[in-house]
Amino acid sequence: MSVFPQLRLRRLRRTEPLRALIRENRVDIGDMVYPMFAVEGKGIKEEIASMPGVYRFSPDRLPPEIEEIAGLGIPAVLLFGIPEHKDEAGSSAYHPEGVIPQAIRAIKRSVPELIVITDVCLCEYTSHGHCGVITDGRVDNDRTLPLLARMALSHVAAGADIVAPSDMMDGRVKAIREALDSESFQHIPILSYAAKYASAFYGPFREAAGSAPQFGDRRSYQMDPPNVREALREVEQDINEGADIVMVKPALAYLDVIRRVRDTFNYPVAAYNVSGEYAMVKAAVQQGWLEEKRIVMEILAAIKRAGADIILTYHAKDVARWLKST
Ligand code: PBG
Repeated sequence: MSVFPQLRLRRLRRTEPLRALIRENRVDIGDMVYPMFAVEGKGIKEEIASMPGVYRFSPDRLPPEIEEIAGLGIPAVLLFGIPEHKDEAGSSAYHPEGVIPQAIRAIKRSVPELIVITDVCLCEYTSHGHCGVITDGRVDNDRTLPLLARMALSHVAAGADIVAPSDMMDGRVKAIREALDSESFQHIPILSYAAKYASAFYGPFREAAGSAPQFGDRRSYQMDPPNVREALREVEQDINEGADIVMVKPALAYLDVIRRVRDTFNYPVAAYNVSGEYAMVKAAVQQGWLEEKRIVMEILAAIKRAGADIILTYHAKDVARWLKST
């Protein structure tokens, strides 16, 4: 074994071409998914205060944005819906003419090959803001499952390419898989938010989607942040129920979870670089305290190094521009 002075690790760091030659992980725009918010109505494009550079679009305003995204080489978007009408059962979530079916059709008319992934969860559609229906003050797992299945079906019928359940009810992947298969959608993959933690990093998202719970919190269904073995059981359960891609969320504070999932299962692993992670970077950049491009590329490289194949990130458009200019 060679040691100093024969061994000098600095030799391979001397120039950028040398560093590039031995680089172990790369941020690739082909692995990115750009999350977007579709709001019911017409003529709407409004910026989300705590997420500078991220907007809510009504379906009619989506096409130019979608053409820009596709032109930047981003292969996929993830859609969240903000309905006009909310009720106890989240009925706008599975309405065939709801905001998400409208948004999907608008996107597919403008760029048919862009992969459209839809978030499947009731919290943006329920008056109480929980991810399931309420029975006697509690989030009712089993009564929620058929509603999630209907929601997924309404998205796929409108042209969604992948559905992504994010509610954390037990059994939802199975319920959705069975519903899709019974309607001849066997070819549509499920990306499950398999290890989704009850995280304070979702704060800006809840402002964006108006989906904060009106009572209690999400800790009876989302995971407890200190746990990692439980995350592996969640992922295993979703794979057994038919998930095609498994996701860890959030990303940055959960890099160890990404790594454990990567090493344990031979399934594609996605990581969600969530709203609060984005907002922290933007706030510090606006103060002049951090250098945006370097910090974002470092964060995304860390998520790749942890083992993610796919990264969902609000930085995707900026990353695409930076990668093009280098
Ligand atoms: C819906 C959902 C949430 C996010 C994705 N899907 C919010 C939540 O669970 O409270 C968070 C995304 C982000 O913070 O960027 N259940």
